[in-house]
Amino acid sequence: MKNKEFFYQQYNKIDWENQEKTKINSFIYHFIIKNIITKKKGSQIKIFDMGFGIGFFFRILARNLCNNFKEIHLGGCEPSKKNYQYFIKKKSLISGKNTKLKTHHKTFQKVKTKEKFDFITAIYVFPHFSPEDLENITKKIYSMLNKKGQFILIVANEKYLEEKLKDKRDLFIKKNIIQFSGKRYREILHYSDIPKIGKIIDYNREDEYYIDLFKKNKFKLKSKKDLNDSDFIATIFVFERKN
Ligand SMILES: C[S@@+](CC[C@H](N)C(=O)[O-])C[C@H]1O[C@@H](n2cnc3c(N)ncnc32)[C@H](O)[C@@H]1O
Repeated sequence: MKNKEFFYQQYNKIDWENQEKTKINSFIYHFIIKNIITKKKGSQIKIFDMGFGIGFFFRILARNLCNNFKEIHLGGCEPSKKNYQYFIKKKSLISGKNTKLKTHHKTFQKVKTKEKFDFITAIYVFPHFSPEDLENITKKIYSMLNKKGQFILIVANEKYLEEKLKDKRDLFIKKNIIQFSGKRYREILHYSDIPKIGKIIDYNREDEYYIDLFKKNKFKLKSKKDLNDSDFIATIFVFERKN
């Protein structure tokens, strides 16, 4: 895909704001909060959400973390004009007197910050990154995390998606090979048809590719799990920044 801007501009033509009605991804948000984020010790927490859409995860974070932490710093970026404007309109729903919010209307690649976070989350955002940007993005995530900070990556499960594309061949666009550190990995460009929201274009990559990419860039794989979210299977990887 030559036009990289395409991946966020496509959100200007679909109805991601219907997430408020369908509650898509809520299951994943609650899983992350309960099993990963609330395990952090201390009274302060800093989280950066890449490609936050309309900011639905922020609302759930603010509501669920206010009793666990005295100071909650939420940060994030969202390049789509339509999603960002909707987020601004509904910003007051991200409430909590102990919550501070700082956002960037930019791609993750263009965010400039010296701040460090305990957690960085990417919930179905890596499927929009072009393969040639992935290593720099990984290095940037490393630079924005505290020591032992964690990066939480959510993507569609590789095997689930392969099966789905066999059934619904019209969703398939093309197959690529990524070459990284002497190895070759499969990558598929395809449509995802999201109920009440619309059709978007995504990349799906082999799990091994993400594992090797992060290991090569000073992360340790802490856990990897498949999650069944209303019959859609997602994979959640948790990578920890080494030293
Ligand atoms: C599938 S939506 C998920 C939104 C959100 N994470 C959620 O759970 O609702 C993917 C989001 O990634 C954003 N995105 C696309 N390219 C991006 C980039 N280069 N940097 C940051 N976000 C990007 C899109 O604009 C879109 O809002």
